[in-house]
Amino acid sequence: MSNDIENTRELKKSFGNTPLSKIYWRDYLEAKNYGSDINSMCEECIQSQIAKYGKRQIECKGLASADMLVDEKLKHLFSDEDMDTAEQLANPYAWANRNIHKKKFTERWYQEMFTRCTSKRLTLRCGRRAGKSYAMALKMLHRAMMTECKILVVTPYEVQAEELMNLILEFVWALNPDYGDYDSIIEKFIKSPTYFMKFKNHSRIRAFTTGASGAGSVRGQAADIIVLDEVDYMSEADFNSILAILADNPNVELWVASTPNGKSQLYRLEELEDYRSFHFPSFVLPHYNDKLDREFKGQFTDIGYVQEVMAEFGEGESSVFQDYFIDKNTTKGLDRKDVIMNRDRYIVVLGGDWNDDKNGTRLLAIAFDKETKQFIIADRRRVSKEGWTQVAAVQEIIEFNRKYNFDYVYLDEGYGVSNIQFIKQYAIDKRGVLPVGHPDLKLSEIVGINFSSKVEVIPVEGGEPIKKDMKTYLVENAVRLLERDVLKFDMEYDRELLAQMNAYVILRKTPTGKPVYGCDDTKTGDHDLDAYMVGLLGWSMENSTFLNHAVTDTLVKLVSREEMRESELVNESIGPGLFATAMNRKSPTRLFNSKINRYNRATFDKNNTQGLLGITRDTNVLAHTRNNKNRRSEF
Ligand SMILES: Nc1ncnc2c1ncn2[C@@H]1O[C@H](COP(=O)(O)OP(=O)(O)OP(=O)(O)O)[C@@H](O)[C@H]1O
Ligand SMILES: [Mg+2]
Repeated sequence: MSNDIENTRELKKSFGNTPLSKIYWRDYLEAKNYGSDINSMCEECIQSQIAKYGKRQIECKGLASADMLVDEKLKHLFSDEDMDTAEQLANPYAWANRNIHKKKFTERWYQEMFTRCTSKRLTLRCGRRAGKSYAMALKMLHRAMMTECKILVVTPYEVQAEELMNLILEFVWALNPDYGDYDSIIEKFIKSPTYFMKFKNHSRIRAFTTGASGAGSVRGQAADIIVLDEVDYMSEADFNSILAILADNPNVELWVASTPNGKSQLYRLEELEDYRSFHFPSFVLPHYNDKLDREFKGQFTDIGYVQEVMAEFGEGESSVFQDYFIDKNTTKGLDRKDVIMNRDRYIVVLGGDWNDDKNGTRLLAIAFDKETKQFIIADRRRVSKEGWTQVAAVQEIIEFNRKYNFDYVYLDEGYGVSNIQFIKQYAIDKRGVLPVGHPDLKLSEIVGINFSSKVEVIPVEGGEPIKKDMKTYLVENAVRLLERDVLKFDMEYDRELLAQMNAYVILRKTPTGKPVYGCDDTKTGDHDLDAYMVGLLGWSMENSTFLNHAVTDTLVKLVSREEMRESELVNESIGPGLFATAMNRKSPTRLFNSKINRYNRATFDKNNTQGLLGITRDTNVLAHTRNNKNRRSEF
């Protein structure tokens, strides 16, 4: 039932088409008009089906309650006690309320809606930490205990299956002892080769992951209920093969939950007429408040906030740099000359993208105005010389640097590893030859960025460092700066760069949720943009304190090639977008916080960064000594 999808359109309109992320969360919540009276939920659902399709399309038994089991006319034959038993038999929420210890169960209206809905096809689209897995685990346990059934759980990663199973076990442990204990309820629980739980009443719950092996092993499994968590992080192929099970067994129930990841699997299901879809942003959390919201807004990219917190599919899903922000920050004519004339007022970074003869090497002088705290492109070079591009580019960098005396030079490594090495060697050779302070000498500090390397981000409150793909980090850094309105563009001078930003999209996402970026028309390309993003990354690594928003003491280091190989497997599961997976979930609150902080603009620890030529850089050292032996980068 595509109700929610349409709601969003209507809702946006009612806010004058303000971008979703700019709507105050309380206003958004109010506009969603959830109506927390559970007793009118079914009526509203039926009304909207009729309004839309002329008839009811969703197959269900009405609100889960004793009424499902006891006919109204026969009610008088039953005692209050009987009715209470019937209520608990039918209504997972009443049952949980009665029997699960309050430490483990507190009432939340939106979870009640989902758990008491009896539609055979159910989707639950929620913001992070809203309690999707919890609600599904509760619904599963109740069903498994009250009926004899087979439940098949499928998640993209094992940690998610583990989390669901653990939730079920925690509910069992938290049951009122009079009701029953673990031994009287569960006959068998194994974790390998797949999670499997057998109940004394012969119900079974088995959990599979699609991750490495795909959904192949799921096919052929018998089930009464299929439960999918984080479905938007499954590949389309895996998702399709799970749906194929339904085609053969139309009586199988399907409960699906996820935080949305663009218009993917959830979107597809919500468009179907026979699906009851629930949508709740993280705003529904009892402890959501302005402070938390500010932190989220400050730390996420706009799309990140819209998808992960508002649980909206996102506008212009795949486009990385939103028009709204680009337009807002583009003017006619910027004073570029001032950068040379008032050089001290600026931090000037050279960002460069090495290319072949055809595309030419792109160099951008990006100037950060310390007073207005804004970036402009002060100057640019494009070097393309048949057969000589590399040599010419090296020459150009030296010349360009003499003009601007760059504070930092950051270049992509692509074609450039040996060129970077060459420039550094050149600068080192000039030591003692050129006068101190000569711009050439500083070129020994060039930093090369390998797009396929990793950056390591350490949550502010400690804990395990998180590795993130360089390319993703590089792009997110630029997006965040754009969305903070600090990047300024000149309509004329930056025309090509703007075109490239406009055409820059997420081409697809890997099953691990890693975005693959590119240009949606090949003519435009993205070479200037790469140079721009590399320069901005350099700036962020060197100067994160300048735009210090909220908490920023997260540290980043570049990860060496050896380390990358060692941790490749772990990285595979680092997962989607802005968030880490449940891999390192220990304490939920801490995770909640670390999610906020993790992708903060980072500082860069160059303390132990070895230069390519064995030169140790000792500038701009940030105090961070933890785990020193891992501090080497590949540079
Ligand atoms: N009704 C509730 N009462 C008490 N604790 C709850 C309730 N609902 C959820 N929680 C707790 O809140 C935390 C987040 O819930 P859960 O893991 O189900 O959220 P989620 O939406 O699946 O999160 P994620 O996006 O990280 O997968 C968990 O620690 C869970 O135990
Ligand atoms: Mg979950």
